[in-house]
Amino acid sequence: MAMALAQDSPARISGPSLLAALRGMWAGGDFTGITAFLERTAREHGPVASWVSLTPPVRLWLLDEPALIDQLLTASGYDVVKSRGLRRMRRLLGQGLLTSDEPLHLRQRRLVQPAFHRERVAGYAATMIGAARDAADRLADGETVAVDALMNRLALRIAAATLFSTDVDDYADTIGGAVTEAMEVFPASMSPLGELLDHVPWHPTTRRFRAARERLDAVVHRLIDARRGDDRDHGDLLSMLLATRDEDGQPMPPELVRDEAMTLLLAGHETTANALAWTWDALARNPGAEARLHDELDTVLGDRDPVPDDYPRLAFPRDVVAEAMRLRPPAWILGRRVVRPIRLGPHAVGAGAVVLAAQIVTHRNPRFWTEPEAFRPERWSNGETAALPRGAYFPFGGGTRICIGESFAWTEAVLVLATLARRVRFRPLDPRPVPLDPLVTLRPGRPIQMRVEARRSAQRGRPSNPG
Ligand code: HEM
Repeated sequence: MAMALAQDSPARISGPSLLAALRGMWAGGDFTGITAFLERTAREHGPVASWVSLTPPVRLWLLDEPALIDQLLTASGYDVVKSRGLRRMRRLLGQGLLTSDEPLHLRQRRLVQPAFHRERVAGYAATMIGAARDAADRLADGETVAVDALMNRLALRIAAATLFSTDVDDYADTIGGAVTEAMEVFPASMSPLGELLDHVPWHPTTRRFRAARERLDAVVHRLIDARRGDDRDHGDLLSMLLATRDEDGQPMPPELVRDEAMTLLLAGHETTANALAWTWDALARNPGAEARLHDELDTVLGDRDPVPDDYPRLAFPRDVVAEAMRLRPPAWILGRRVVRPIRLGPHAVGAGAVVLAAQIVTHRNPRFWTEPEAFRPERWSNGETAALPRGAYFPFGGGTRICIGESFAWTEAVLVLATLARRVRFRPLDPRPVPLDPLVTLRPGRPIQMRVEARRSAQRGRPSNPG
């Protein structure tokens, strides 16, 4: 590590490997080649690689060095801004927290933060458990389910209930379908001509994206309109957005309320759903970890579903989720465009460059992880990860742009896992590894079809499974 950091110029990629990279990136019009390319680049070129992308011409940097990743994440929002991927998502998310720049971002973050304070999130735990219990109640022993779709619905239901006090069951399919549409056309909209396509309304990519956006807009406007004129404090995010006043006593502009609501509804369920889907996939393929999970749940919970106060005692379930997010990070890459020259360790990075840090690469760097490809939740409690440098594991990013929903996501993932795993196990129907579909988030490349196997009936005193 020290040797690599001592270099003043990063390893540069040129010639054939650049061509291979471009070919790999756009093969098939999707991103599947990108993860392999990034991994190969990092393993071959070390902690810092840099190359010029010709379309559009921009200097790219790929960091696979925790100290430098940490520096990038903690760089000032006036020196680095979100790179093209998230900027392209502005067409859907507008100027919401995920996609806005400073100073708007910081102002909005301060306003929204109270909805994610620790006590608030603890208050959402009962809703999370209740939704997971309902999902378990509807599962029948022996039936086949697509676990990814199941987790998507559940996470959406939880986000809508906690942040918007709304039941979205009636339009869950609309939301799910529209998010999938928007994700599927994302690689095309990131192609070199992506921005031009926005002005070609009849192009299929543009048409599909706009249709998806309209459907999502209709849902979000319905959520907001249902609340307008209702001055009661529902104690949720939406009440907060509508009640807030600036120094001049002005409410938040309606388009910004829309952007924040859209951002939190989408960011609030898509990533957690993926984390959970990959967790079930990993457990089904690792019987030892699954058996230990069941043992720990039996010890901590005995013959009952979890209650919010159990959360701190669910240490092994948390390790299972942490390990799943190491190998299959739902946010698999992040990027920053440099607007004022910065230094990353010994490297001077000029304005205009784009710096990438890829969780999917660094979370499996053999310099930091023993048996990097193995699913070993025990590594999180046996001391192995205690000395990990900051920036070696960053599923939620870091610095001023760290995920606002991090503790929400941990609480939800652990409680959903515990509630469901106490009742059922999921058996894989297809032994082949599930391919990765790295879109905006890391989705499974095919439905994760699994057979439900009952472990226990419903909690004593509750009606048993209606099937
Ligand atoms: C396992 C689940 C989740 C993962 C892996 C995840 C990951 C991330 C990452 C990596 C970032 C930083 C992106 C960057 O730096 O460019 C981020 C930001 C963000 N996330 Fe999450 N997230 C998750 C769950 C959630 C939840 C549950 C919510 C809301 C309820 C949420 C809302 C947001 C928002 C609003 C931002 C932008 C924050 C800002 O820039 O101030 N996320 N997330």
